[in-house]
Amino acid sequence: MLSRLIAFLAVLLAAAPVLAQDRIAHIASPTGTLTVGLSLNGEGRISYRVDRLGKPVIDNSQLGFLFTDQPSMLRNFALIGQRTRNHDESWTQPWGEDRTVRDYYRELAVDFEEKTGFKRRLTLEFRVYDDGVGFRYRLPARGDGKPTNIAEELTQFRIASDGRAWWTPAFESNREEYLYNATAIGGIATAQTPLTMILGDGTHVSIHEAALVDYSGMAVARVEGTLLKTVLTPSSTGAKVSRTGMFTTPWRMLTIAPDAPALYAARNLVLNLNEPNKLGDVSWVTPRKYVGIWWGMHLDTQSWASGAKHGATTANAIELIDFAAKNKIEGMLVEGWNVGWDGEWFGNGNEFSFTKPYPDFDLPRIAAYAKKKGVHIIGHHETSANIAHYEKQLEAGFDYYQGLGIDAVKTGYVSDAGGVQALGPDGERRFEWHEGQAMAVHHLKVVTEAAKRKIMVNAHEPIKDSGLRRTYPNWVSREGQRGMEYNAWGEPKNPPVYDTQLFFTRMLAGPMDYTPGIVSLKGKGDTDIESTLARQLALYVVVYSPVAMAADLQENYEASPVAFGFIRQVPVDWDETRVLSGSIGEQVVVARKDRKSADWYVGGVTDAAARVANVRLDFLPAGKRFTAHIYRDGPTAQAGAKGKDMVHEIRKVSRGDVLALRMAPGGGFAIRLAARR
Ligand code: NOJ
Ligand code: CA
Repeated sequence: MLSRLIAFLAVLLAAAPVLAQDRIAHIASPTGTLTVGLSLNGEGRISYRVDRLGKPVIDNSQLGFLFTDQPSMLRNFALIGQRTRNHDESWTQPWGEDRTVRDYYRELAVDFEEKTGFKRRLTLEFRVYDDGVGFRYRLPARGDGKPTNIAEELTQFRIASDGRAWWTPAFESNREEYLYNATAIGGIATAQTPLTMILGDGTHVSIHEAALVDYSGMAVARVEGTLLKTVLTPSSTGAKVSRTGMFTTPWRMLTIAPDAPALYAARNLVLNLNEPNKLGDVSWVTPRKYVGIWWGMHLDTQSWASGAKHGATTANAIELIDFAAKNKIEGMLVEGWNVGWDGEWFGNGNEFSFTKPYPDFDLPRIAAYAKKKGVHIIGHHETSANIAHYEKQLEAGFDYYQGLGIDAVKTGYVSDAGGVQALGPDGERRFEWHEGQAMAVHHLKVVTEAAKRKIMVNAHEPIKDSGLRRTYPNWVSREGQRGMEYNAWGEPKNPPVYDTQLFFTRMLAGPMDYTPGIVSLKGKGDTDIESTLARQLALYVVVYSPVAMAADLQENYEASPVAFGFIRQVPVDWDETRVLSGSIGEQVVVARKDRKSADWYVGGVTDAAARVANVRLDFLPAGKRFTAHIYRDGPTAQAGAKGKDMVHEIRKVSRGDVLALRMAPGGGFAIRLAARR
């Protein structure tokens, strides 16, 4: 009856010059902060809108699909049913920024059917939280058993007002590794996600996606004004996504908060929209810090390739294992250990062997020595994005590491964007994108093969993080933005403003292997890094990763014992995280509680401006006394050549105290709050 009525109205409205919207479904978040409404217009086009406290955030935005071999699916829909459901559950993370995560939402599922033609069905599922919305499409199997071939997803995001936006360009040659553009929302071009915005009324909104499984990654492009639309990553087959049978898309995710600290506080939305852990007992996933034979290659004083400058030698590895053991740093990465680095490896990868060390690198001996010293070797699989070649050796490569007791692997996919080499259906070579469907499939293959052998994975030049660490907790970290390596050879290097943007964009997606801790403050050719020493320490607290590198050379740590003292102590696994203050592109101060003790850590970074942070210690438990070890910029400190001026002071503090800490231009601070017994 209802659908007939709607059909009748649709006919009436189709004639109207402006197509009116019929509100057909509505749902509010658990405490009513956010609401989502769904409408059908006279053409049977579906749209959704999102309001926060009664004010629009996303105005009516249309939904649908184009296919390569079927008519489009975007109009002529009738409502055929709807259901709602409430959910409130807390779950425990095996590791992370928080121990406990509350998953509290109201769900609305709405079924549509085309009134004519194929009469295809489409279900939309919305999960509405107080601080965000996830929605996805459920598409039926095709009647003829053939795959559904998506040419484009037509999801729109009509941002309710103009404001400011922080974004990196999509589909450019350097993959995810770009500085942020800070523009008007009306100045966005084609952007990667997370894309973060502040609307005219101050509402903070970030667009991203969750559970990117067997689908192509989503970018967003501006159509006109503040209307954004989805652009899926291309594929070599023509269809951007090809799926057989019934399937759901990844969740389209909107994080919505009143201010910048609340935006980061809502970061677990991406985890809640993923499936629970599928790996069972993951007690073998152990967060850790690590050193490595690494920075020397980026400085060009050592090489990945064999020869006089070869970094991965047995002697170098043994020396670094001793250094790690002495300083209780549990991990050691070795790059350039395996045959294949000589010659042009960038974007090639054909020569890489994942089971053959170079002759001057006696891996069995090194692994046995590391074991004796209690140090875990972190293996390295640089693939140059040749996944066809890598997948042939994947199992053998992981078997080899497992046999040597290596329980973590850093992977790498260095090639230009669109330069991933994959096998086509007839065994031919195909070129794919790092964020495409082929890579979504590939990464999960790697992660599950690794999990079978109790190996953790940290992917560089990865596909974007969409929260899959909840489902596969051995996928511990990834890069996916400009890391410290840009401070070795980048042109330009990472400017101070970068970290204050990264925190509210990329870091909403999940951990980043940023490789902090360059205490020398020097890049390649003795160039200055745009940081102070105190800021290098702050990065361990600010930029979360359960595997965090002490990235500098051993000799630089030996020359900087005070700073290295903090790096040795700072944890990588937290009970709880609080953003104490933050403003996108200006500054952020974050406090995190150690999982293994009652200690708290605080990190703060600023952009190129000097600022005073008033750190109010009201997150500390009452009645307990703490010793604050403060590492702050000295009076003459300034990012660059004057960056090393750092003051280390120790104070007795307790809940309610306020520490006024001056951050130098491009500076920051780090605090260890040790609970006193
Ligand atoms: C790029 C990675 O981000 C970096 O950490 C690594 O050293 C090189 N690729 C070589 O694999
Ligand atoms: Ca990289």
